[in-house]
Amino acid sequence: MELMKLILLPLFCMCFHGHCAGTAYPHKSSCTIKNAKADCSHMNLNAVPTDLPKNITTLDVSHNRLKNLSSLHLYWNLVNIDASYNSLTSIEEDLCVSLPHLQILNVQHNEVHLISEKNLKNCSRLTRLDLSDNRLKLKGEPFSVLKSLTWLDVSRNKLNSAKLGTQPQLPNLVTLVLSGNEFSVLQKNDFSFLSNSSAFRVLILSSLSLKKVENGCFQTIARLSDLVLDYCKISPQVTTSLCEELAGTALRNLSLKSSQQMTLSNTTFQGLDKTNITVLDLSSNTMSKIADGTFQWLPRLEILSLEHNSLRHLTKDIFSGLGNLRQLNLQKALTKSHGSSFPIIDDFAFHHLVKLEHLHMANTGFREITEHIFSGLPNLKTLDLSWSSTGLKTVTNKTFAALQESPLLQTLNLTAMGINKLGPRAFSSLGNLTTLLLSYNFISQQLNGDELEGLSNIKEIDMSMNQQSISLTNTSFISVPTLRILKLGRALKGTLDLTPSPFTPLVNLTILDISNNNIANLNAGLLTGLHHLKVLKMQHNNLARLWKTANPGGPVMFLKDATKLSVLDLDYNGLDEIPLNALRGFFELHELSLRSNLLDQLHSSVFDDLRSLKYLHLQKNLITSVQRVTFGVPLSNLTELYMDHNPFDCTCESILWFSEWLNSTNASVPGLPQGYMCNTPNAYFNHSVMDFDPLSCKDMTPFKALYILSSTAVLMLLFSAFLVHFQGWRIQFFWNIMVNRMMGSLEDKNNTEGRYAYDAYIIHSAEDRPWVERSLLPLEDEKFNFFLEDRDPVPGFSQLDTIVENMGQSRKIIFVITEMLLKDPWCRRFKAHHALHQVMEDNRDSLILIFLQDVTDYNLNHSLHLRRGMLRPRCVLYWPLHRERIPAFHQKLRSALASTNKVN
Ligand SMILES: *[C@@H]1O[C@H](CO)[C@@H](O)[C@H](O)[C@H]1NC(C)=O
Ligand SMILES: *[C@@H]1O[C@H](CO)[C@@H](O)[C@H](O)[C@H]1NC(C)=O
Ligand SMILES: *[C@@H]1O[C@H](CO)[C@@H](O)[C@H](O)[C@H]1NC(C)=O
Ligand SMILES: *[C@@H]1O[C@H](CO)[C@@H](O)[C@H](O)[C@H]1NC(C)=O
Ligand SMILES: *[C@@H]1O[C@H](CO)[C@@H](O)[C@H](O)[C@H]1NC(C)=O
Ligand SMILES: *[C@@H]1O[C@H](CO)[C@@H](O)[C@H](O)[C@H]1NC(C)=O
Ligand SMILES: *[C@@H]1O[C@H](CO)[C@@H](O)[C@H](O)[C@H]1NC(C)=O
Ligand SMILES: *[C@@H]1O[C@H](CO)[C@@H](O)[C@H](O)[C@H]1NC(C)=O
Repeated sequence: MELMKLILLPLFCMCFHGHCAGTAYPHKSSCTIKNAKADCSHMNLNAVPTDLPKNITTLDVSHNRLKNLSSLHLYWNLVNIDASYNSLTSIEEDLCVSLPHLQILNVQHNEVHLISEKNLKNCSRLTRLDLSDNRLKLKGEPFSVLKSLTWLDVSRNKLNSAKLGTQPQLPNLVTLVLSGNEFSVLQKNDFSFLSNSSAFRVLILSSLSLKKVENGCFQTIARLSDLVLDYCKISPQVTTSLCEELAGTALRNLSLKSSQQMTLSNTTFQGLDKTNITVLDLSSNTMSKIADGTFQWLPRLEILSLEHNSLRHLTKDIFSGLGNLRQLNLQKALTKSHGSSFPIIDDFAFHHLVKLEHLHMANTGFREITEHIFSGLPNLKTLDLSWSSTGLKTVTNKTFAALQESPLLQTLNLTAMGINKLGPRAFSSLGNLTTLLLSYNFISQQLNGDELEGLSNIKEIDMSMNQQSISLTNTSFISVPTLRILKLGRALKGTLDLTPSPFTPLVNLTILDISNNNIANLNAGLLTGLHHLKVLKMQHNNLARLWKTANPGGPVMFLKDATKLSVLDLDYNGLDEIPLNALRGFFELHELSLRSNLLDQLHSSVFDDLRSLKYLHLQKNLITSVQRVTFGVPLSNLTELYMDHNPFDCTCESILWFSEWLNSTNASVPGLPQGYMCNTPNAYFNHSVMDFDPLSCKDMTPFKALYILSSTAVLMLLFSAFLVHFQGWRIQFFWNIMVNRMMGSLEDKNNTEGRYAYDAYIIHSAEDRPWVERSLLPLEDEKFNFFLEDRDPVPGFSQLDTIVENMGQSRKIIFVITEMLLKDPWCRRFKAHHALHQVMEDNRDSLILIFLQDVTDYNLNHSLHLRRGMLRPRCVLYWPLHRERIPAFHQKLRSALASTNKVN
């Protein structure tokens, strides 16, 4: 939304000001001034501003609505004025009088009409004058005053003659541009006004419809060296007569680009025989035929362009006579058009070109590379056949055998030719070849090594972009040990886990590209012996496993011999670990790229040897913390850092150092600050790392201590609170017992077991009386003696006294626990309380609980202030549901009754 506004606003403003220019160029509101140059273009001005610094030397007032150039006299120092694209109708009469230093004047695209000497009076210092795209009408000899002019452009002025004057004038003119005017005849005297222009060289006559070139028209400008007739309409006859007229001139460059030359005959260029023409451009002419012998007249030609034509046939004599040609451009010169057959190149088509060094045939289509097409090119250095369709599928030892005669051939460009196989010794005739380009083909084979045999001086092989269908063996590169650059990006399939490595023979290799191959398997010997390797590109592979600590056998240190590396690219490999020593000894590493991996925690010393690092790419990883221990060395002398889009943890520990580094570094950090966002902690989430406040980390030590102290205190408080809440009763209980025991031992109270009258005091609810009689009283027949509340009390005693007295007289107190008991108010309020009191006071482990029903600990505690946990396990008994277990219950009860009361 914001973006939309930004884009629309200027457009809107432009239209709002009532001048909706066709261009989408935003108007400025004021001139920009820099180094004595004022730029007032695109400002919708009606008049030249008067408030500019007086000493400006260059003024650009183009693309405005100026009708005149008054007020220019204010700027006396002006040397260069651009007043193009305005509405000027004339050139101010005293312009050069008020601007004595003026040298360059551009009034292109105005409406200047009448022009005479007066308008250019005093302009003798002017060197360049652009009057193109006006509607000039010359009165008298307007240009005769321009004594210093070197460049004059009067293109597209509807002039109906090339004759700009009758008297010799413009003594220093070098270049005259007359393109796009309305004359169609070059008359005999047209250029006589240049007869004294000894420096004249360049005539540009593009976009004319030339019907006639009169005899002798170039006579007065025989020094002409460059003639440009691009986009002209010229019939073959006119071309022929033009060339005849050029005879005897100093012509070196002739450009006939897109000038409707359909065919060239063996006489077209005959006139050029008497020139020293060296460059001829015949591009974009839809030519389909060039007769044999056409170029016989151009023995000094060095550069010929036939680019972008529709030639059907290159015969063996088509280039005869071009014995000096160095460069032939045939790009797109032969094409298979729809419905026609492939053009043909005959054997020996180039054999006349004995000096040819560069043959460019990119984007051509022809039937076949026959055995002798390229025969007879003893000086050939470059052959470019890229993107050509020639039907070549398999390169055999015959395909380029003819190039044996070209011992100087250095570069063979076979990019994108649809090749799918390299036969044995395919390039064996190219012993001096240094560069072999085979990218963007469909080569699908195992390289055994014999394919590259004979390339004894090869420096660079590019096989990238071959559909990942080349597989390597130990011997793939055995015959090219001189190789320095090997590019295999998006070319390989299969494994690189070979011993020895396919690259081992390449002792001088400096650049190796095996990127984009999904390689997952290789071994530590991959780069063995490659001590000169400078650039290693392995991005977009699958190397994550190899560097994992958990890899069986440990991490694979495949970089170990390549410590001379200057550039290492490991982007997009899924790496989540860098082994501690993986980058050990890489003192010369200049650029390290680990973009888009999964790196987070890095060993603190993993980058410690990267002292020369200038460029570090770590963007789009999972890095949370950037600390000095890890990044101090690599960031110490960096030129550019890319670490954006990581989930930074903006805490003092993780980011303080980095934020300080960012604030003080001279390195460029593209993407700062928006790309560097904090992910944690919450307070900084989605804020830039640059927002991190380093002050919050100052004086960390006292704060730290305080923090530790207070957090410990809080923790301990919490712990005690929980302890008291859940286990308070236990603490209280055992505390009491302990206190009592101490008191007991101090007092050394005589509490011998013999003083009791009863073995147990039984507390039960009235409803449980039958159970007590049935199940407990039988024990009295043995040796036990119980106190029962409803049987044994002495009449006359109050109930309270009875309880107190007799509990004291009993060795144990048995609670028969059922829900009914818990509801008995007496029991709850007094008996249990007293029993507990007794237990504590006497330091006795004297309670026995018999559960007839399942009662929760909570209810038990709530009603009787008792918990199972207070008692020893053997004093908590459960009445069994199974009859046969009753004897066992009794046995347990007996032992509980017999147990000592001592707490230990
Ligand atoms: C032009 O004049 C201004 C003061 O008017 C001065 O500051 C500036 O340096 C001058 N520039 C040049 C290139 O002389
Ligand atoms: C061509 O060059 C030769 C030597 O460089 C020179 O003598 C001769 O005059 C030149 N021809 C023309 C037409 O300029
Ligand atoms: C031009 O070609 C014709 C045949 O096509 C031949 O008769 C004539 O001699 C050639 N002229 C020159 C100058 O080579
Ligand atoms: C091409 O190889 C074949 C054998 O495979 C051999 O007979 C022939 O001479 C070779 N041709 C060249 C030009 O090397
Ligand atoms: C080879 O051809 C390709 C594609 O046309 C081009 O981009 C490259 O610059 C050429 N290389 C050389 C060394 O000519
Ligand atoms: C390589 O070029 C040199 C000249 O620079 C030449 O003497 C030699 O024969 C050439 N070697 C081959 C195999 O073409
Ligand atoms: C490697 O380079 C050195 C130095 O340029 C050179 O002497 C040596 O012959 C080269 N080795 C191979 C196998 O090309
Ligand atoms: C930092 O790099 C520059 C060149 O970029 C180099 O001149 C300088 O010595 C380096 N400083 C250190 C400490 O490595």
